[in-house]
Amino acid sequence: MKYTVLVNKINYIKDSYLNRINLVTTKNVLDKDILIEEETYNNYLKLKEFIKNELDIEIGIDTAYRSINEQEEIYNHYLEINGEEYCNNYVAVPTYSEHHTGLAVDIEAKINSEFIYSDDNFNLTEPVLKKIHPYLHKFGFILRYPENKKDITGYNYEPWHIRYVGEIPAKIIYENNLTLEEYLQDFGCVLYINKPKDVTSFDVVNEISHLFGIKKVGHTGTLDPLATGVMLVCVGKATKIVELLTANDKEYIAGVKLGIETDTLDITGEVIDEKDIPNNLNIEEVLNSYKKTYLQEVPKYAAVKVNGKKLYEYARNNIEVELPKKEVTIKEIELLNKDSNSFEFRSLVTKGCYIRSLIKDICTSLNTIGTMTSLIRTKQGIIDIKDTNTLEDLKNNNYNLHKIEEVLDYPIIELPSDLIKEVTNGMKITNNWDIKDKVIFTINNKLIGIYEVNHNNLKVWKNFN
Ligand code: DAL
Ligand code: ZN
Repeated sequence: MKYTVLVNKINYIKDSYLNRINLVTTKNVLDKDILIEEETYNNYLKLKEFIKNELDIEIGIDTAYRSINEQEEIYNHYLEINGEEYCNNYVAVPTYSEHHTGLAVDIEAKINSEFIYSDDNFNLTEPVLKKIHPYLHKFGFILRYPENKKDITGYNYEPWHIRYVGEIPAKIIYENNLTLEEYLQDFGCVLYINKPKDVTSFDVVNEISHLFGIKKVGHTGTLDPLATGVMLVCVGKATKIVELLTANDKEYIAGVKLGIETDTLDITGEVIDEKDIPNNLNIEEVLNSYKKTYLQEVPKYAAVKVNGKKLYEYARNNIEVELPKKEVTIKEIELLNKDSNSFEFRSLVTKGCYIRSLIKDICTSLNTIGTMTSLIRTKQGIIDIKDTNTLEDLKNNNYNLHKIEEVLDYPIIELPSDLIKEVTNGMKITNNWDIKDKVIFTINNKLIGIYEVNHNNLKVWKNFN
């Protein structure tokens, strides 16, 4: 279920969504049966209890899920008694109401031991409902139509209408004073994830996409299921910088088992060769000799494409194909541990370097064979593993979101007022700052664009406006 589904004046509810909603029955403040989406209801109950304990306010539901027919009745009722302008400000046209999702809840508060319907008693109910608003996000709800956001939401302030979106989106929306529209269109952040073992990079991306309720999520360098460690994940607008982060140098700690070779070049593969391990291997010396730039053969189990097909697809079908070679640089390499049949080393490498292939090459230089047994990415660009969060941290509300500016190692310049127009329009400007590569421009600390050097000028690389 997508809890951030957008239903507003321009986005109607799709049948495909309606068919998937899991509705449960409860009673409203008038003791009438009503329907509400299941997870919304469970979180509503937690909110209700919290509000009772914390604020000594009792809340109840007026309506939650509404069928298209019910919305039509409501719309026609208000049209008759309050007219078209009122409806335009407060009541959605049938199929364009987010009450159809089952995720929107109109709440009422008990005042002097009576539930009060807000519509007719705004001045009485608003101050009470307002006290609840700061706590909504803790239970995954947002105030859907806040004050002064009508130009974005299309509706006047409705202190009673709350909307379930899930805990992470609700927290971000609340803390940054956003609307759901702004969150879905403009929000962007980078997560420093510590990928667990035995899950794919794709699994991590899917999980984050689900938790954030945002479709656009991208990682910046695949880690195989065997590998753990730093995986930078770009959410929303931050996907624009995926290629910059993918290009970063990466640091790894890898384990090697000597005397066997596998088809995948790591311990998850099938053993294809076994050899006695020579005595007195000078591992340190050989590792040091790899501190260089060289042409590395891509492993046959890799996602790199040759003639439109991924290499591993050829490999799985036992089709021989010439493996491409890529230039890589090993900037740092050091032995950490060794015994008679294994060793562990740390290396800092450029984009596209396969540690499995590096290990194969090192073992060849050692006149033996070997395979990778473990891999930890300890750094990507300027981000260290000690600053990462696990997927569990995300679920337990214990995580850091990072701004795009924070993960890039470029100068950040607050735009002088005479250049705002040029930069917001993505025009070329003079390189007044002696920028060597790229520069980040902000207005009031908000990222506007990334520019890059072009002869004596700076031209737009990505616009964030
Ligand atoms: N009151 C909101 C806008 C609705 O009718 O869905
Ligand atoms: Zn409502």
